[in-house]
Amino acid sequence: MNSQSSQTSMSSHPTSADHHDADLHRAARDHLWLHFSRLSAYDEGAVPIIVKGEGAYLIDSAGNRYLDALAGLFVNQLGHGRTDLAEAAAKQAAELAFMPLWSYAHPVAIELAERVASHAPGDLNRVFFTGGGGEAVESAWKLAKNYFKLVGKPYKHKVISRTIAYHGTNQGALSITGLPGLKQPFEPLVPSTFRVPNTNFYRAPEQFQTGAADDLERFGRWAADQIAVAIENEGPDTVAAVFLEPVQNSGGCFPPPPGYFQRVREICDEYDVLLVSDEVICAFGRLGHYFGAERFDYQPDIITCAKGITSGYAPMGAMIASDRLAEPFVRGNEMFAHGYTFGGHPVAAAVALKNLEIFEDEGINKHVLDQQDGFRATLEKLLDLPIVGDVRGEGYFYGIRLVKDKATKETFDEDESERLLRGFLSTALFKAGLYCRADDRGDPVIQLSPPLICDQSHFDEMEQILRSVLTEAQTKL
Ligand SMILES: Cc1ncc(COP(=O)(O)O)c(C=O)c1O
Repeated sequence: MNSQSSQTSMSSHPTSADHHDADLHRAARDHLWLHFSRLSAYDEGAVPIIVKGEGAYLIDSAGNRYLDALAGLFVNQLGHGRTDLAEAAAKQAAELAFMPLWSYAHPVAIELAERVASHAPGDLNRVFFTGGGGEAVESAWKLAKNYFKLVGKPYKHKVISRTIAYHGTNQGALSITGLPGLKQPFEPLVPSTFRVPNTNFYRAPEQFQTGAADDLERFGRWAADQIAVAIENEGPDTVAAVFLEPVQNSGGCFPPPPGYFQRVREICDEYDVLLVSDEVICAFGRLGHYFGAERFDYQPDIITCAKGITSGYAPMGAMIASDRLAEPFVRGNEMFAHGYTFGGHPVAAAVALKNLEIFEDEGINKHVLDQQDGFRATLEKLLDLPIVGDVRGEGYFYGIRLVKDKATKETFDEDESERLLRGFLSTALFKAGLYCRADDRGDPVIQLSPPLICDQSHFDEMEQILRSVLTEAQTKL
């Protein structure tokens, strides 16, 4: 019991409407355990409470407005406050609020599976719904292992992924994640995962920084070939899958060099290793297509997705598997002995269906493709600041890499990073009206991933706020 309880009668528990701002902050501090956050942040008074969303903007409990330059967390594709999505949820909840997909089906999950499969590349026809992205990654690894056992390759179970890549927090997904700092508190994790280099061209080995026109392509070929090296090192008979994002988020938004995924596909075919495209961020319009694999023209064996599938109006994820992978489960007594109570939740499925209908009706992918050059050009203006080393990304998904010395590409040490990112940038950007993310998993980077409804006026607003705050940041170094 806390001080709040003592002010409230036993028969009426406090609701958020009853709370004044100060009460809310107090109750949050005492009871709400934030994710990936220091609980001490409450004491510093640095935990904003967001009460409302309108289009591309968020509003906090004090009435301040912020441009949502991160779409919540790479989620809110259509922006905030859409009553059509809210109504789709309410209608479904009234009709059939819950039914699991364990041995029974319901219409919205069926329709959504058909629709998602129709957008997915090639023969990715089988949709396994989950509650979010980590569960989709977890499901993909389990399917890969199970599949190979059923087709007579029982030793294939290992996974290859890239350095600094984030794939989720479930213990399997965390094991695939390439961020040692996130893993150490929970080790030992699931064994059998191995890392290869990512496609961070800014930090590419010197041999690919010669200034020659083909540096990027050669770097991509080399990075892809490291997957073959890892497969050989581990033993091809033991490797089940490689997990890659179309554009890797963590570390600073690394697009694939030209030819990278084509070479990865060849390697996967040569060694019978499954290519899992982890599109938890990159799917549903983030890169101007339903799936990132389409943008870069490669055929995965599995796609994992979540976030934008509902634009955040309900939680949902999915693993989309090829006909080949479903085949051993289609006949006879075999089953994929895996599932989640809330996988394919009717309300989430109804919202996802409405979301995808709006994508078509409002031409969301086309809008992103039409606007993406403007977004890039606007962000690239920031390259004139000494602290901005690199602006990298695709579609509506960018990272702005901060460096101490632009000429030498020297990065910040841990103390400087702490002072710059946590001590100044995160709060200064927010106070200036921009919700985005300053991250130091790798080089310090500002991540931008706005709602897909944004246009040039929003890009200009982002650039202006970033310019003024980054200019001030330079003086603090
Ligand atoms: C590429 C990728 N995979 C998996 C995940 C985990 O998704 P969730 O947080 O929905 O479990 C994320 C989350 O950001 C992600 O970016």
